[in-house]
Amino acid sequence: MSLAGRSLISLWDFTKAEIETLLSIAERMAEAIGLGGRERRGSFEPMDRILATLFFEPSTRTRLSFESAMLRLGGQVLGFADARASSTSKGESLADTCRIVGGCCDIIVIRHWLMGAAKVAADFSGVPVINAGDGPHEHPTQTLTDLFAIKRVKGTLSGLRVGLCGDLKYGRTVHSLAPVMARFGSEIVCIAPKALQIPEETLAEVENLSGKRPEATEDLAEALNDLDVLYMTRIQQERFADRREYERWRGIYVLTPELMARAPEDLIVLHPLPRVDEIEPAVDRDPRARYFEQAHGGVPLRMALLASLLGLQPAPGPQRRYGLDVQPQPSAVPETAEEVRSRGRQVVENAPPCRREGCVTEVWDSLPSQAYVLPDGRQVCAYCERALAEA
Ligand code: NCD
Repeated sequence: MSLAGRSLISLWDFTKAEIETLLSIAERMAEAIGLGGRERRGSFEPMDRILATLFFEPSTRTRLSFESAMLRLGGQVLGFADARASSTSKGESLADTCRIVGGCCDIIVIRHWLMGAAKVAADFSGVPVINAGDGPHEHPTQTLTDLFAIKRVKGTLSGLRVGLCGDLKYGRTVHSLAPVMARFGSEIVCIAPKALQIPEETLAEVENLSGKRPEATEDLAEALNDLDVLYMTRIQQERFADRREYERWRGIYVLTPELMARAPEDLIVLHPLPRVDEIEPAVDRDPRARYFEQAHGGVPLRMALLASLLGLQPAPGPQRRYGLDVQPQPSAVPETAEEVRSRGRQVVENAPPCRREGCVTEVWDSLPSQAYVLPDGRQVCAYCERALAEA
């Protein structure tokens, strides 16, 4: 099925076959732009398509790689990088802002501090929307970038042992990465203090997919021994209401050359970046440290994503729409019944409002209540995907 005209709010929006096809297109885009110092295959012809980037929260990599991707595809970019520059600072609702922006562009990339903000944009803008991070909820394009890095180095997304380390409670990238790795048949190990463990809803999803609860440990040195991928994350300073709580956890995990000396030879170390102090700069020289390469893959990956959602077609000529002749690919790992059930979410009729702290419904209470049922029977808000009963 084509991705044209669709939005990406969570990776549940895509089948595994669609994800694998995207990674193949990204590989062709990497060739086109000469990623990693290879010879460039040339540039794309200008096209009449506009990307709007609405960044209500700070960003370097994500915003610039989306802008770079659109410009490299021959399209154009408008938007803002600071919430104060938009009319929400005058009291406009996010839904209204998105309705207006939808009339100015062909596709939207949004980052916001509230969980569910990207879903609101998709519900109201009338154009495809890409979630570039909604509070501590999800960050699916970072995960696609992670998958691209893993696939390029390891050659597969299946049968791997992936350690997620750091702030798994607030770190949105791991909330997107854990379920998709489980879908591909990889194992997750959660390395975090109890207070910063991954949300129960995400654990339940992974458990449902893999048939067992992910391992949890606080000990990085021990967990490191049998990992294929170590995914480090920073403690998410901006999500702590109390600064002292942040200071308590800061520096709890630091990857050092000494730890790397004891780690498997074929380990790869990834990090969504920015790093603060969780990986010592001396580790950068270790060939197993792949995080900068991972970040650079974000441009071709986002080129592939934008081109697919915009429905760009391959066209004659050596450079025009390069890479889009990739045929849809079946996934190497077929969809399981659990996965199909999880993707076809069962909607709750007359759902009660969520209004959880940090959910868009807390700030804009006129948004229609929406909820669905998790495979374990729990009802979750469709915006923040946190359990309704606990709200
Ligand atoms: C991540 C984010 O914004 O969630 N950054 C990114 O987009 N690469 C990770 C983080 O900020 O820690």
